[in-house]
Amino acid sequence: MYKTNLIEGAKKVLNSNFNEEKGFTIPCEGLYPFQWHWDSGFIAIGYAHYDIEKAKREVESLLSGQWENGFIPHIIFHNESDTYFPGPDYHRSDLHPSSPKTIKTTGITQPPVLGFVLKEIFDIARDKQDVLEFIRPNIDKIFKNHEHFYKYRDPHDESLVYIYHNWESGTDNSPIWDEIWKTMDPPKYKYERKDTTHVDASQRPTNREYDCYLHLLEIAKAHNYDDAKIAELSPFLVQDPLFNAILIKSNEALIELYQILGDNHEKIETLKSWQEKAKNRFEEKLYHEELGSYVYYDLRNEKQIAYCTSSTFTPLFAGIPSKERANKLVERFKQNFGSEDLFLCASFDPKSMYFNPKKYWRGPVWINLNWLIYRGLKRYGYVQLAERIKKETINYIEHHGFYEYFDARKEMFDNSAYGGKNFSWSAALTLDLLNEL
Ligand code: GLC
Repeated sequence: MYKTNLIEGAKKVLNSNFNEEKGFTIPCEGLYPFQWHWDSGFIAIGYAHYDIEKAKREVESLLSGQWENGFIPHIIFHNESDTYFPGPDYHRSDLHPSSPKTIKTTGITQPPVLGFVLKEIFDIARDKQDVLEFIRPNIDKIFKNHEHFYKYRDPHDESLVYIYHNWESGTDNSPIWDEIWKTMDPPKYKYERKDTTHVDASQRPTNREYDCYLHLLEIAKAHNYDDAKIAELSPFLVQDPLFNAILIKSNEALIELYQILGDNHEKIETLKSWQEKAKNRFEEKLYHEELGSYVYYDLRNEKQIAYCTSSTFTPLFAGIPSKERANKLVERFKQNFGSEDLFLCASFDPKSMYFNPKKYWRGPVWINLNWLIYRGLKRYGYVQLAERIKKETINYIEHHGFYEYFDARKEMFDNSAYGGKNFSWSAALTLDLLNEL
């Protein structure tokens, strides 16, 4: 019974956030009024369960913002809205010669989910032939996107790519970035924040953090979003485990899809060579022996940033760790994130002094990260733990609705829902969890 209600509720959220005219879905009314890159990927998976045409439109509208050089931005401004800062006039994608002429975007990206999203849509769809006809003209665009990463964002040619902005990580205000903010001295910019008009300021990033975020964009804009200049000058240059795990998973999905499509020998070989190098380097560079966990690598300051976050468990999703390392990783997961008094999975190490259970990416549980970890645990055969995270994810939604993020502490359960209310990826991924094949 509850399952039917949840499914209907999830569809309602998605349908009401869908922009019929432009064919894309906002993450959430007011707070996020445009099309966001990785949100759209998760959203398309949700649609695939009940309206495959919408899933296709979601992907196509995202790809309509792709730059000529292969880059896919983190926001596509199909529409106007004054409820969000910084908007299109701030980002100025027109500064870069490859940006689209007819549509405004940002000049930063987000975790490259589209590769694996296409494969998910294919797996879910009943009419495989029909979906293949959709994938055929679009898959090369995603290949080109990956090529762009390896060409422009991999200065040491190690098949690990960097992000140059915390918004590219998807985990905006993680304590991980605090180390970098300490190295910066941004001007105090004058602007009007909009996020704190929708959500209590105590749950959002601080003004100083916002100044750092803008400063990174100012540097990129001052050089017309030129990749080489950004690599040379940005104080923020990080190899993020979530971002790279997603890229690796998407490579894997592209290989599988090209094999199904046939006649793509060369691209498959290229993908395989990126893949092999990337996995090896990931193991060497992003693993922290003492923590028994993957971590972040700060390329600008040449050191690991060694804390555990929900992102550090996502290499399981991409099949990166050996069985032995996976065991260690799962031990760390259980010890720090899975204790009796917590629901899975806090976004930052609950045992750390920087853990903040209410503040965005500094502690709360996020549905998309839970979904990625759930899939990862299943992939490696940790069945019980996978079932636990799935159950606890659905439990949040069932009791509170499709919120953006949740307090992990069991004692706070009654008041644990935060952020945007009818949040699209929370709805889309709930649909996926409930409709598992
Ligand atoms: C926030 C999240 C980011 C998400 C965006 C839109 O910025 O940190 O991951 O993509 O909102 O939902």
